[in-house]
Amino acid sequence: MRMYDIIYKKRFGGELTREEIDFAINGFVSGEIPDYQMSALAMAICMQDMTDAETFYLTDAMMRSGEIVNLDRFDGLCVDKHSTGGVGDKTTLIIAPIVASLGARVAKMSGRGLGFTGGTVDKLESFEGFKAELSAEQFFEQVEKIGLAVVGQSGNLVPADKKLYALRDVTATVDSIPLIASSIMSKKLASGAHSIVLDVKCGDGAFMKDEKSAVLLAKTMISIGKSFSRNVRALVTNMDTPLGVAVGNSLEAYEAIQILSGKGDNELRALCVALASNMASMALDISIDEAQGRVIDAIDTGRALERLRAWIVAQGGDDSAISNPDMLLSAPFKREYKASADGYICKMRAQEVGVASMLLGAGRAKKGDTIDHLSGIMLSAKYGDYVKKGDTIATLYASSESLFDEAERVLNRAIDYSQKPPIKRPIIIKSL
Ligand code: URA
Repeated sequence: MRMYDIIYKKRFGGELTREEIDFAINGFVSGEIPDYQMSALAMAICMQDMTDAETFYLTDAMMRSGEIVNLDRFDGLCVDKHSTGGVGDKTTLIIAPIVASLGARVAKMSGRGLGFTGGTVDKLESFEGFKAELSAEQFFEQVEKIGLAVVGQSGNLVPADKKLYALRDVTATVDSIPLIASSIMSKKLASGAHSIVLDVKCGDGAFMKDEKSAVLLAKTMISIGKSFSRNVRALVTNMDTPLGVAVGNSLEAYEAIQILSGKGDNELRALCVALASNMASMALDISIDEAQGRVIDAIDTGRALERLRAWIVAQGGDDSAISNPDMLLSAPFKREYKASADGYICKMRAQEVGVASMLLGAGRAKKGDTIDHLSGIMLSAKYGDYVKKGDTIATLYASSESLFDEAERVLNRAIDYSQKPPIKRPIIIKSL
């Protein structure tokens, strides 16, 4: 078999066999197939798409490229959640303790930020001392004891995706449905959960800009999950504007505590309740209505917040912020960002807000950059709100005054005003 022939076949829309896909992935991971040939194949896939069978073979080959975690010891109670990525997405910090407090198990591997915002692990490290590296034994013991653990992604989990994503990122081949679906599902399947809830983001700040492609991505991932005998559900959710009001690691940890205290942004709460209800419904085999009642009760009684505390402590973190969340808002410098006109906020582009937050220090401009956990943006007005010129729209947090001007310039590009109220899409666009 020759990689050249596989690329040529896909270039003209041929359907690749399982053997051809295994050959390409195995050869790429072992180093026998060079980056330039794999990039050419990725581009051909972007242009010609893949059939369901090809997408399944690709996912399977990627999943088998490294370690596969077995969570069978938890009797089918393990449930995972994945978001396709968005600005201000702190949902794992909120829903993992909720569902663990209901008796489900969350044994999760999570990444650091890929793009301009921090990842779940970065957000958790806002709690001083939090350790994202646990031995396998510590990880399983913690899941047994408190129902949840989140660790940084192990180097040996789906190495094919690590290598391929790095190529896609620099060859304009990220936004292809079979490539995204196989990338996400290979990691979810290798991480071992019995049930998976997918939060497929749709809109300006997401890979999928329109509802049709977001639904197609969701359906593709559900069908891959079914082929591997996993329960998978998906919510297609709005990512035109940042999720909630906080963007930046410790600010998002603050917002997570707010939601678990029964306060905070209504849309973020609604999304978290929906995601957690789907997770609990699948893991505990109960109806979605029953699950939703239990989720709301876990928040109202404070049990979910206490589970967050137990989680932070179990992974070596300082839990004082749970009782005193204001300490998470203690960046040395703050500046208010003001409205430049009267009107309704009719655009608050998620991606630009993410870039502004990164410029303040909350994200990585390139791999390996260090993150300033205390920096970021706290919104006080959101999409659809009416503001007057000079009203505060956001508070910017940073370690140095010198970082504010450029972040403000990016925010100027992020926000538009209109005289008529804009049409609002619901946070949950579709449940599948
Ligand atoms: N997230 C992933 O893990 N992979 C993709 O290809 C896109 C988003």
